[in-house]
Amino acid sequence: MGRRMRVTPALYLLLLIYTRVYTFIPGVDGPVSQQEALDGGNTTLHCNSSADTSDEQFTLLVWYKDNVPIFSFDTRVEIEWSNEGFNRSGRIRADVVSQPTALTISALTEDDEDLYHCRVDFLNSQTRNIGVNLTITVLPSKPFFLDEVGNKVEDRIGPYHEEDTLVLSCLVIGGRPPPHISWYSGSTLVDASDGASDIPSVKENVLYLPLNRDTPAELYCKASNTDLAPPLEASVHIEIYVSVQNVSIQWVEGVIGHTLRSGRPAVAQCTVHGSYPQPILEWWLDRQHLTKHSNQSWNNLTRTSISYLELIPSVAENGATLACVATNTAMAPSRGSKADVIKLNVTYSPIVEIAKLGDGDLSDVAELDPLHLECEVQANPPVNKFIWYHNDSEIVPGYIWGSNVYSHKLLVEEASRRHSGVYSCAASNNVGETRAEPLTITVYYPPECIGPGISLVKETIKCNVHGLPSPDTYFWHVQPAGLDVQHLTTGSPILPLSQINEPLSGTMKASCEAGNGIASQYEVCERIFSLESLRPPQPNQCDLAFEYGEFQMRCIPVENATYYEISVWRMSTSNSSLYLERRGSIGFGTRQALAQGGVEGAPGSIAPTWLVRGALGVLKSADEAGAAACNRYGCSAPLLLRPTENLLLAAEPPWWHFILEKDVGISLGAVVLVISFVVSTVLVVRLIRRPRGKPPPVIQVVQLDDLTRNYIDTMAG
Ligand SMILES: *[C@@H]1O[C@H](CO)[C@@H](O)[C@H](O)[C@H]1NC(C)=O
Ligand SMILES: *[C@@H]1O[C@H](CO)[C@@H](O)[C@H](O)[C@H]1NC(C)=O
Ligand SMILES: *[C@@H]1O[C@H](CO)[C@@H](O)[C@H](O)[C@H]1NC(C)=O
Ligand SMILES: *[C@@H]1O[C@H](CO)[C@@H](O)[C@H](O)[C@H]1NC(C)=O
Ligand SMILES: *[C@@H]1O[C@H](CO)[C@@H](O)[C@H](O)[C@H]1NC(C)=O
Ligand SMILES: *[C@@H]1O[C@H](CO)[C@@H](O)[C@H](O)[C@H]1NC(C)=O
Ligand SMILES: *[C@@H]1O[C@H](CO)[C@@H](O)[C@H](O)[C@H]1NC(C)=O
Ligand SMILES: *[C@@H]1O[C@H](CO)[C@@H](O)[C@H](O)[C@H]1NC(C)=O
Ligand SMILES: *[C@@H]1O[C@H](CO)[C@@H](O)[C@H](O)[C@H]1NC(C)=O
Ligand SMILES: *[C@@H]1O[C@H](CO)[C@@H](O)[C@H](O)[C@H]1NC(C)=O
Ligand SMILES: *[C@@H]1O[C@H](CO)[C@@H](O)[C@H](O)[C@H]1NC(C)=O
Repeated sequence: MGRRMRVTPALYLLLLIYTRVYTFIPGVDGPVSQQEALDGGNTTLHCNSSADTSDEQFTLLVWYKDNVPIFSFDTRVEIEWSNEGFNRSGRIRADVVSQPTALTISALTEDDEDLYHCRVDFLNSQTRNIGVNLTITVLPSKPFFLDEVGNKVEDRIGPYHEEDTLVLSCLVIGGRPPPHISWYSGSTLVDASDGASDIPSVKENVLYLPLNRDTPAELYCKASNTDLAPPLEASVHIEIYVSVQNVSIQWVEGVIGHTLRSGRPAVAQCTVHGSYPQPILEWWLDRQHLTKHSNQSWNNLTRTSISYLELIPSVAENGATLACVATNTAMAPSRGSKADVIKLNVTYSPIVEIAKLGDGDLSDVAELDPLHLECEVQANPPVNKFIWYHNDSEIVPGYIWGSNVYSHKLLVEEASRRHSGVYSCAASNNVGETRAEPLTITVYYPPECIGPGISLVKETIKCNVHGLPSPDTYFWHVQPAGLDVQHLTTGSPILPLSQINEPLSGTMKASCEAGNGIASQYEVCERIFSLESLRPPQPNQCDLAFEYGEFQMRCIPVENATYYEISVWRMSTSNSSLYLERRGSIGFGTRQALAQGGVEGAPGSIAPTWLVRGALGVLKSADEAGAAACNRYGCSAPLLLRPTENLLLAAEPPWWHFILEKDVGISLGAVVLVISFVVSTVLVVRLIRRPRGKPPPVIQVVQLDDLTRNYIDTMAG
């Protein structure tokens, strides 16, 4: 052997390869492994050339394709050889150093599919054979789509609606072995059923896909006939119109614990999910369409639409319904819209108004009637506290208010006049406190006498009562002493005595009872009084004169006298006492005229030019003359005058006349002493008091002293 090898190693090798050709029988000559490679790719065939023992080494390595040598390596000459037909364009590489040895074949074609085996020769050991069954896989074409009517579909398809069924074919041309076609909706395998095609070397898979809102938008068709390469795939985008799935309103601003506050701006956000294409969002507040909202935003990835509404809630909007309506205009109207509604809970400080319950005027109540006041409130949240005010001070339990003063009703069972005043109530909730406009309550009460009840004021009697409202009717019962009762009615508290028909010279019993529309008086006012004070004052400026042949009483009129009475007192000739000889009225005049004649002028003023004059007839020494001023209430005390000596002398009748009246003369002497004393005093006084100027006529004035007056008074009575 050794000798032969030395000849020409290459030649020897060739001979060796070809002479020792024999057919490899898989399984018998050696093991066979399956190996797959892609058309156009490369593959590496491995062959273990390690010896079983360490002292052994291989001498020759040969690769056969279908028993035809394509590569050899001889360790003794270290020569690599390759079949030129197989190693076209230098596509094979060998690695005989590392174990196992490798033979890499590139630019594979379908012709390379075959049974390969390698043969390893050793110095001493037995030859080894290892088989490799190489298959070449040809990838198919990229899949493409055809719709139901056979039109090619590119990129996108639709639009469809929910519950439609999508029918789409995926086709693949070529491929060895024939590929499998699978449909994926998103990442989910939905159809792996292979189908044949009418066209040779074309495979087809028809997909029937029920559509719903969750159907992924991307549909994939994958074709595969090997694990060596990823599947070939194509995708199409399905456009599915879906109705609005859900609508929700949330407050994003201006809410305090889920509630709104009146007047405080709040922002609501309406989020709409699920609709495609973009829905239209509309806002409604009860039946009002709100147009002032933000521009609607749209995210076509999440299919979310958002609209913001700014709202300044008012009290009236508490309880109102806020709706966000999303409409997908691409859908049938019946299923195109969805809405979310929320009820507004608008909180506000109470709105308070005070009202009086029960009959009658809004602000009046009669004493002893109940007084019911109610604090009418409108509030959200409900009122938690009420406070009542009377004349601006807080009403507390007790006193005239009872115990229940902190509720929305204030109840006084029996109103008294102390309950009059200005009422208000305040209500508070956790938003705030409000006080109502005050209400003035007047407690009416029937008339009552003030003090003695009836008073005499000048020529009237007055019924002194108080009541609310002021009395408007007065019933009088007047009864002058000893006379009949007279019933009178007046509209004012004053009853002029002129309305009483009867004489009024003494005392009078009067009662009055007032009415004010509420009730009549409980107790009438009653009084007995004397009318003496209404009599005129005593005349105090009188004199005696002898005129026109007789004595005259002349007086300056006094106020309020309607007539005058003169009286003549004679000195009795028998028992030396004065007796009333006659009495008579004189000088009737109107009150006004008399008033004019008043003498209240300042000293030095011109004296009145007229007088009240009454004829007295004949007066003798010690006779007296009286003058009293009178009106319907009676007469004043008379002013008594006695003629002076001078006056008597002036009136002296002829001497025989004097004798005829002898009895007068007798008593004359007895009084002369007294009179002369008085006269001297009075004269001085009168002279000083009389107005200066024109000297008086023959007049003498004698005024009596008190002692004498008392005497005459008792006589007159
Ligand atoms: C064999 O193919 C692989 C990819 O298929 C490539 O990366 C590699 O370079 C190829 N080797 C040769 C020797 O061509
Ligand atoms: C190659 O063959 C030798 C001898 O039979 C063995 O010991 C070795 O493990 C084999 N190597 C491989 C990679 O199979
Ligand atoms: C195949 O041919 C190329 C160039 O023709 C050569 O470089 C290469 O070594 C050959 N392969 C083997 C295993 O001989
Ligand atoms: C080689 O592979 C092909 C296809 O896979 C098969 O038909 C054939 O029987 C295999 N040959 C051997 C010897 O295993
Ligand atoms: C509305 O629908 C979306 C999906 O479309 C879901 O994520 C969300 O939870 C839903 N919201 C409500 C309130 O049901
Ligand atoms: C809404 O859009 C209109 C026109 O597209 C624009 O004039 C207006 O300013 C926008 N309003 C808001 C609140 O974004
Ligand atoms: C979203 O809208 C843009 C522009 O209108 C469009 O290019 C994009 O394809 C849309 N995306 C989806 C998921 O519909
Ligand atoms: C509104 O909110 C207030 C405060 O939280 C609560 O007391 C009240 O019951 C709410 N009203 C309604 C109608 O929910
Ligand atoms: C309250 O005020 C009214 C007048 O506004 C007054 O007549 C009444 O006496 C007052 N009452 C009290 C208790 O102050
Ligand atoms: C007279 O009567 C009037 C009215 O009654 C009264 O005012 C006046 O005081 C009276 N005069 C005298 C002096 O009594
Ligand atoms: C005195 O006399 C007069 C008659 O002159 C007589 O009327 C009168 O009653 C007498 N008085 C007494 C107290 O006697």
